[in-house]
Amino acid sequence: MPTTLDVEDLLGSNVVLVTGKGGVGKTTVAATLALVGVATGRRTLLVEVEGRQGLPPLLATSPWDYQQREFRPGLAGTAIDPADAVYEYLELFYGIKRVQWVMERSHAIDFVTTAAPGLRDLLLVGKVYELEGQRRPDGRRAWDLIVVDAPPTGRIVPFLEAPSAVTEIVRVGPIRRQAGQIEELLHDPRRARAVVTTLLEEMPVAEAREGVAALTAAGIDVAPLVANQVEVPRLAPGGADLLERLGADGLAARAAAAGANASRRTAALVLGLAREQQDRVALQAGLLAELTAATGRPALALPLLTTAAVGAEEVALLAHLAAAQLGVDLAPPPHVTAAELEALTAALEATRDAAGAR
Ligand SMILES: Nc1ncnc2c1ncn2[C@@H]1O[C@H](COP(=O)(O)OP(=O)(O)O)[C@@H](O)[C@H]1O
Ligand SMILES: [Mg+2]
Repeated sequence: MPTTLDVEDLLGSNVVLVTGKGGVGKTTVAATLALVGVATGRRTLLVEVEGRQGLPPLLATSPWDYQQREFRPGLAGTAIDPADAVYEYLELFYGIKRVQWVMERSHAIDFVTTAAPGLRDLLLVGKVYELEGQRRPDGRRAWDLIVVDAPPTGRIVPFLEAPSAVTEIVRVGPIRRQAGQIEELLHDPRRARAVVTTLLEEMPVAEAREGVAALTAAGIDVAPLVANQVEVPRLAPGGADLLERLGADGLAARAAAAGANASRRTAALVLGLAREQQDRVALQAGLLAELTAATGRPALALPLLTTAAVGAEEVALLAHLAAAQLGVDLAPPPHVTAAELEALTAALEATRDAAGAR
């Protein structure tokens, strides 16, 4: 049995920061987790901080901006931008009207992005803090769950430590007061935690381990991990052994008997591909076991999808598969057949089992 995962372990805080090595699927995982959050009844806000507009296509919406926009019941999105955050901040704390700054827009952007990179991060983290503090008229939090598509692991700790860096530099005034409050948010596991995403490959796993250690050292709670793009075995259990026993000649003979035209060379090629895939599956299970042991955390597993592109339907499928591992009901998208679902679920379980069994 794979280690059981509880949805509260992953999504049980107000803010969930999704990080990982660049390109491992942070954005995809952030969208996936947000859909799981909605399925648990949480009013969920997805936040993009790097201005890439990577999230909207994964949810089939038009581009996002600084305003929070609810694009389906219980799910909203926003793209926060340091320049917008600086205008808002200056207006809020110093009463400087936005229009005055728009005149100076290029200077403002230069200032926050080049002159003071720590300030840029502070403004983004500060905006997340402000979103977490938003209230509905009845006093409840405006968002039950805020999922942030955060910077990659290499940058996440400096990003999150921007408030403390600023408290050291700026000893007085509103920035210091606010920075202290942001730090409180980041160091309270009920309010914020990080989800480290990885591929089951050497380099990303090493970076995930370092990321978990660095976040922990910075006092930030780290949730279970997400292993993304897990290889799905193409052979039924026992299939690999059967192929080995048959060998290329046996396979070619079987193919011929079944009325297919496969040369010995084709059969040998098929055998090679099957072996390669088996090796990859085994390697991934080994890396998953290593990662789980090294970090002391279980991992949610998401399959490597082989569709041409990952869009809204694929994210809905990933969300269904994630929800199933977390004990949450979330219907699969209509285009996926029951057989496909069963195969994917079994494959993910097998990988988690194999990792757990080591
Ligand atoms: N489970 C998956 N199966 C197949 N492709 C994936 C999966 N997750 C992510 N991808 C693809 O990998 C690439 C990187 O994913 P993305 O979420 O943009 O990563 P990041 O935000 O970490 O840079 C994208 O092309 C995305 O569509
Ligand atoms: Mg991304």
